[in-house]
Amino acid sequence: MEAKNNRIVIAIDGFSSCGKSTMAKDLAKDLGYIYVDTGAMYRSVTLYALRHGMFAADNTIDTEALQKAMPEINISFRLNTGTGRPDTFLNGECVEKEIRSMEVSSHVSPIAALPFVRQALVRQQQEMGKEKGIVMDGRDIGTVVFPDAELKIFVTASAEVRAQRRYDELKQKGMAADFNEILKNVEERDYIDTHRETSPLKQADDALVLDNSNMTIPEQKEWLKQKFEETMEKLG
Ligand code: DC
Repeated sequence: MEAKNNRIVIAIDGFSSCGKSTMAKDLAKDLGYIYVDTGAMYRSVTLYALRHGMFAADNTIDTEALQKAMPEINISFRLNTGTGRPDTFLNGECVEKEIRSMEVSSHVSPIAALPFVRQALVRQQQEMGKEKGIVMDGRDIGTVVFPDAELKIFVTASAEVRAQRRYDELKQKGMAADFNEILKNVEERDYIDTHRETSPLKQADDALVLDNSNMTIPEQKEWLKQKFEETMEKLG
């Protein structure tokens, strides 16, 4: 891949709740790049499936109905001028809060494992990055969506640290939270995300690894900025 107008593609992958999106959003803001949270896209499809009764009582998914509905599921991002960050819209409705609920969190992994869902969302993500100047975070960005991204980061942290962060985030938003339930959810999602057949979470060979278990947000920000500068220098 070649930088366009000196703008590059930055792929940030890693486990759930490891602070990827905070880092990615801050970097995009500093650079004036577009930020795309691909997890929000899988969460939006999950919310749609939940709302349309596509999960049976035993949590199996009516894949036929979902596949048929895919062309009608429109996901977009709009900048929230209050927070300075993009909000997620599902068919024109702001669902930023709904997609972060425990209900969506505990149903999203099987949805993200469906090949036809991945195919549709990956296509949209590649379209969003065509003009470069983008920071995208997810699980398969450096491996599948943009295998030629100029800068790839793989973020990791212990499951306990990640569960604590999600707990704090929910509490801060005034939402219900139970630490043990969250930890169980984090571990289950790690397992499904790394073991699924289609695009499992794995580190790209050329990704730079960041274990942020014991790092503060400003420290991570500094680390990332440095990696960005080194990449730009290399590209000349
Ligand atoms: O990053 P997150 O926790 O919001 O992601 C929600 C779910 O979506 C998670 O179970 C993994 C999945 N996901 C994925 O499979 N591929 C991506 N590019 C992003 C998220």
